[in-house]
Amino acid sequence: MRHAPAPRAIAITGASSGIGAALSRRLAGPGCSLALIGRDADRLERVAQDCRAKGASCRIGPIDIRDTARLSDFLDSFDREQPLDTFISNAGILDGRHADQTLEDGDAARRVLETNLLAAVDAVHIVLPKMRQRGQGGIVLVASLAALVPLPDAPAYSASKAGLLSYGLALRDALAGERIKVVVACPGYVSTAMADIHIGSRPGEISADAAARLILRGLGRNQPVIGFPTGPRFHVDASAAPRARSGKGR
Ligand SMILES: NC(=O)c1ccc[n+]([C@@H]2O[C@H](COP(=O)([O-])OP(=O)(O)OC[C@H]3O[C@@H](n4cnc5c(N)ncnc54)[C@H](OP(=O)(O)O)[C@@H]3O)[C@@H](O)[C@H]2O)c1
Repeated sequence: MRHAPAPRAIAITGASSGIGAALSRRLAGPGCSLALIGRDADRLERVAQDCRAKGASCRIGPIDIRDTARLSDFLDSFDREQPLDTFISNAGILDGRHADQTLEDGDAARRVLETNLLAAVDAVHIVLPKMRQRGQGGIVLVASLAALVPLPDAPAYSASKAGLLSYGLALRDALAGERIKVVVACPGYVSTAMADIHIGSRPGEISADAAARLILRGLGRNQPVIGFPTGPRFHVDASAAPRARSGKGR
């Protein structure tokens, strides 16, 4: 199987911790430019230092991704210096059932949908026109296995991830005639600050670095849905994902 060349100019949201930080560290190397986005400047800077030590050049963007204007300024300015070849939309939050058994309220549900779905779609629309002009690019949307198997303890989170998966698959087909690939990652449990919020067992949990490796392998293979873990204990596989159908006017 032929693999795509390694990306050289990459923007990653949610790079300050967990999977995003692991992706950043894995991608870092000589000749690679990274735009690292998250709200916490100190944590972003620590990730950036690790990446610079591996030879990458890094710019941090301490931005709430729901602030589309600031995100747009930051990404546009990065793109002017280093034409983006890959955008990884990874930032996300989890709410749902709390330790006292109360379920997310309306404000929390809105915050989850705004961050995980609407801000991710807005971000795609910031980077996509430039990729289309150049006739190349890659977009990774980090959704979740919850997109395929909704979590009763996290209704808005499950909806946000199902929306992102569906959006990504439709966008992938919409751009099929252009040299822009869109892949959607659907991780199961990954050992990060977010997983620590989850109440209950976390079967098949893997490290953030292992998740980052699988996501980048899937991107290199241009896999439409990068779902993991797989195996007999996990009855969900990527073939359960909805499929976009080409055709206009529907
Ligand atoms: N861990 C799991 O088991 C698991 C499973 C399936 C899918 N995922 C998905 O994987 C992605 C990464 O999560 P993770 O597990 O690595 O959790 P994490 O360690 O909590 O990381 C979440 C990242 O998102 C950033 N973020 C959150 N809200 C943001 C906002 N409004 N603006 C900018 N950045 C924001 C956080 O940065 P700041 O705090 O600095 O803003 C942080 O860097 C998420 O989309 C998550 O839904 C995780």
